Amino acid sequence: MTAPATRVLLSAAQIEQRVKEMARQIEADYAEGPLYLVSVLKGSFIFMADLVRAFERLRVRTEFMAISSYGTEKTSSGQVKLTRDLDVSIEGQQVLIVEDIVDSGLTLSYLLNLLGARRPRSLAVATLLDKPERRVKPVEIRYTGFQIPDEFVVGYGLDFAEDYRNLRDICVLEEIATSASGAPAAWSESER
Ligand code: IMP
Repeated sequence: MTAPATRVLLSAAQIEQRVKEMARQIEADYAEGPLYLVSVLKGSFIFMADLVRAFERLRVRTEFMAISSYGTEKTSSGQVKLTRDLDVSIEGQQVLIVEDIVDSGLTLSYLLNLLGARRPRSLAVATLLDKPERRVKPVEIRYTGFQIPDEFVVGYGLDFAEDYRNLRDICVLEEIATSASGAPAAWSESER
């Protein structure tokens, strides 16, 4: 993709700095590792990769799940489907869900119920981005990288119809018409 119509919201340097700070905070809270980090694919893969490498002394396990959302109103349908489950049991473990962005909160609420039922010792959430204005379902987030306004962002793992995940900065996609739900119209059919 050449010259995408984007405006930088968070630069790669800002993200790098904040991810390091988040790692320090998480390390301080989980002195007794191991900590099971559960990345929710695909959007959080870059955040997950940077976060784990920012830990200096915490024992971590990296686990991955994938879910897809469907319906015409992706962010508000609440219809999420598990497409890849964890390979391991998390019973009795300390678990931290690693999310790219929390928008309506419906996806996260689904995940918290799903993983909570597996009886982890603790279960918390780290998200790089939070769009609090769009919350439909209240969810407790322990670690937030940045609160951002209600704009559609791409880059650093986040996509629009599978494009832009490779951008180093987090950018606002400016030239795509948005639907009433606030999400770009074509986005409702894409993967997470
Ligand atoms: P929620 O269930 O509405 O909180 O949506 C969470 C998921 O929607 C995220 O994990 C992303 O995959 C996607 N999402 C929400 N907002 C954006 C955005 O601005 N850009 C890209 N993906 C987004």
